[in-house]
Amino acid sequence: MSTIPTISPDPLVVNRKKITTKVIQQKADRGDPITMLTAYDYPTALIMDRAGVDSILVGDSLGMVVLGYENTLRVTMEEMLHHCRAVRRGADYALLVGDMPFMSYQVSVEEAVRNAGRFLQEGGMDAIKLEGGRERADTVRAIIDAGIPVVGHIGLTPQSVNQLGGFRAQGKTAAAAKKLYEDAVILQDAGCFSLVLESVPSRLAELISENLEIPTIGIGAGIGCDGQVLVTHDLLGLFDRFTPRFVRKYADLFNEMERAFGDFIADVEERNFPGDEHTVDMPDDEWMILMSEIDIRNKKLLS
Ligand code: KIV
Repeated sequence: MSTIPTISPDPLVVNRKKITTKVIQQKADRGDPITMLTAYDYPTALIMDRAGVDSILVGDSLGMVVLGYENTLRVTMEEMLHHCRAVRRGADYALLVGDMPFMSYQVSVEEAVRNAGRFLQEGGMDAIKLEGGRERADTVRAIIDAGIPVVGHIGLTPQSVNQLGGFRAQGKTAAAAKKLYEDAVILQDAGCFSLVLESVPSRLAELISENLEIPTIGIGAGIGCDGQVLVTHDLLGLFDRFTPRFVRKYADLFNEMERAFGDFIADVEERNFPGDEHTVDMPDDEWMILMSEIDIRNKKLLS
């Protein structure tokens, strides 16, 4: 009997339909909260998709939580596409959004359109996300003209961490909040189908959400957004360096994994693993033949 657990058909996914940008808008229009999580690999995308998340973001947070970089600035197009393909293989239903990495859309509009296209053609994504406000309006328009849906991202934009002076909340003064409000309207007018609001005061996020037609997805932006996104490694307790204040931890996988690895090491060292149930046996008659044909002492075949 096999001891390998098999993945059974999930009753929750029966009759489910692929989530499109239109479905996301319809959910927002009905007032149903939109859920988005980050994923960077096949098993996480598979589990998340089965759990019923609306959208999976292959975020450039990849650089910090999976690749161990200090921030997101070193992440390349090739790294993003590699992980997008893995996520694509795991997810059948969620709307897949690929995050454009630093310097893949800032140099020229042409390069931005080409790179955005690679997320769909080579990465299997349904849409892309990029950071920035009014300064990105032309780029957003050109990408959308090429037939690629775009998610905007304003507030704390980690690719500008050196300009912002660290990972800190944005829009806390009236002037900064007004600029963010205007950026949100400009990105909507440029054609974004959704907008991520990161680390901004909740009353500002609510004001923006109420006044936009397109759904807002908040991260550290309070309950007034149309949806919520978290970095999965934060939610699972898998990121070792820090946990932003706005994260709710739904698991403690760092300690759970450390315990499991420790148990494996102890079992091997104490010769408790593998057990009989993990080993392959050989029929007695075949074993006897083998014994008769091997010169055990000289460890060589007799014939
Ligand atoms: O890269 C990322 O994971 C993100 C989310 C924090 C929205 O941009």
